[in-house]
Amino acid sequence: MIKNICVVGAGTMGNGIALAAAQQQFNVILFDINEKVLDHAKTTILHNLDFLVTKQKISAEDKTNIEQRIVYTSTIEDCKAQLIIEAIVEKLEAKENIFTRLAGINDAQTILASNTSSLSITEIQKRIDHPERVAGMHFFNPANIMKLVEVVKGKFTSDATANTLIDVCKAMQKIPVLCNDAPGFIVNRVARPYYLEALHLVEKNIAGIENIDAAMESLGFKMGPFKLMDLIGLDINLAVSQSLYDAFDKAERFKPSTIQQNKVAGGELGRKTGSGFYSYK
Ligand SMILES: NC(=O)c1ccc[n+]([C@@H]2O[C@H](COP(=O)([O-])OP(=O)(O)OC[C@H]3O[C@@H](n4cnc5c(N)ncnc54)[C@H](O)[C@@H]3O)[C@@H](O)[C@H]2O)c1
Repeated sequence: MIKNICVVGAGTMGNGIALAAAQQQFNVILFDINEKVLDHAKTTILHNLDFLVTKQKISAEDKTNIEQRIVYTSTIEDCKAQLIIEAIVEKLEAKENIFTRLAGINDAQTILASNTSSLSITEIQKRIDHPERVAGMHFFNPANIMKLVEVVKGKFTSDATANTLIDVCKAMQKIPVLCNDAPGFIVNRVARPYYLEALHLVEKNIAGIENIDAAMESLGFKMGPFKLMDLIGLDINLAVSQSLYDAFDKAERFKPSTIQQNKVAGGELGRKTGSGFYSYK
């Protein structure tokens, strides 16, 4: 049974995954190359725990215990665990490199799971020793709250690995859904028109972003497409559109929007940079 988890990358997703795991008794190592991100992750986790205490969802003692189960580090040699959940930049080469290094530090039984939104698990696992222990574990944002996790089987992922990840998700009080490797997996594939059609409406001057968000929220969606893209990160959301566009032979329905491309080029990535479609300053 898995008890020790290392989360690699402490950004938007990494700190939420670390908290979700520590809340359910897992010992967690949270690693990032950037000390500032680690500090920010610690502050965010403490803030979320304080909120849970205020809402009487956990006691002050629970808070202390959860805090103590998380170790923060910027030293890769500390990343030894039974399960590694990678949540670094959405770049194939970076993910291959980090998994290769982590495979060298850990033993052959350590499961290497990627939280990628859009990259192929089969591509990632190809160059890693013992590819049968590599899989996708796709959490949703905010990862400490959202229940769904897509457990993704690449071409070489073993049933044992997938089953272990399903058990870990359940122990984390998540709802795992198994899926074979395919562009966008389930949710990002089905939900793509939600973002792209909204962007087309703005491009064609049919409606403004506030009105589109208000319309979709009034209909029952928790967040309008523009608020949701700001939460996800415009760079991440664009990477998913681009990967579906490439995977489907440049099909017009997955064509990335120039509005979003321009925002990403200008460093307006959403909440994490203080501005995206809305301002958060
Ligand atoms: N943002 C979302 O809503 C969302 C949802 C599901 C999945 N994902 C996926 O999760 C992953 C992370 O996304 P994010 O939004 O948290 O990104 P982010 O930009 O907020 O955080 C990425 C972190 O990785 C760190 N990093 C980069 N290279 C590293 C390395 N070699 N070793 C250790 N740390 C490194 C960076 O310092 C940064 O803190 C991506 O693969 C993304 O597709 C994102």
